[in-house]
Amino acid sequence: MNILLDAATIQSRVKELAQEIERDYPASEEIHLVCVLKGGFMFMSDLIRGMSTRVSMDFIAVSSYGAGTKSSGEVRFQKDLDTSLENRNVIVVEDIVDTGLTLKYLQEILRSRAPKTLRTACLLSKPSRRKVEVPVDYIGFTIEDRFVVGYGLDYAEKYRNLPHIAILQE
Ligand code: IMP
Repeated sequence: MNILLDAATIQSRVKELAQEIERDYPASEEIHLVCVLKGGFMFMSDLIRGMSTRVSMDFIAVSSYGAGTKSSGEVRFQKDLDTSLENRNVIVVEDIVDTGLTLKYLQEILRSRAPKTLRTACLLSKPSRRKVEVPVDYIGFTIEDRFVVGYGLDYAEKYRNLPHIAILQE
């Protein structure tokens, strides 16, 4: 597989994002990160290690793809949050925004739970594939229309463990 982003490049960009996020919130404010499983887990774990102690976290699981490489547009909700979002500074932490359908759906649901603020951090963005407009406040890397795996991202549940991001040869 061709490596698109090596581990060192990802690590340094995620550190930058962590610092940027911290700078954007007043020091007195707590930040509540909502990791979108499963793809967001590695990004989330590196992101929180780059941040100070004023973070809390929760996890949500949705799936939109089944085992293929093309979005069906169908989003299934598989695990809900454990805690309330009311009056919290929430950041959704997602692996990739592709068509935008998953994120749009998620943002609508989370916004209805009355957070104080709601932002989104995505490690990757494929703007050429967007079907719906969706705001993303923090983007790690903008990439071309390629199916990528590694650093949390899978193909049929494989390759999530890779420390880099590679282009899957179909
Ligand atoms: P969207 O709803 O089309 O934006 O798709 C978002 C979800 O599809 C992501 O959270 C990923 O789980 C998955 N996805 C989209 N593109 C890729 C890719 O290139 N590799 C692996 N998963 C992807």
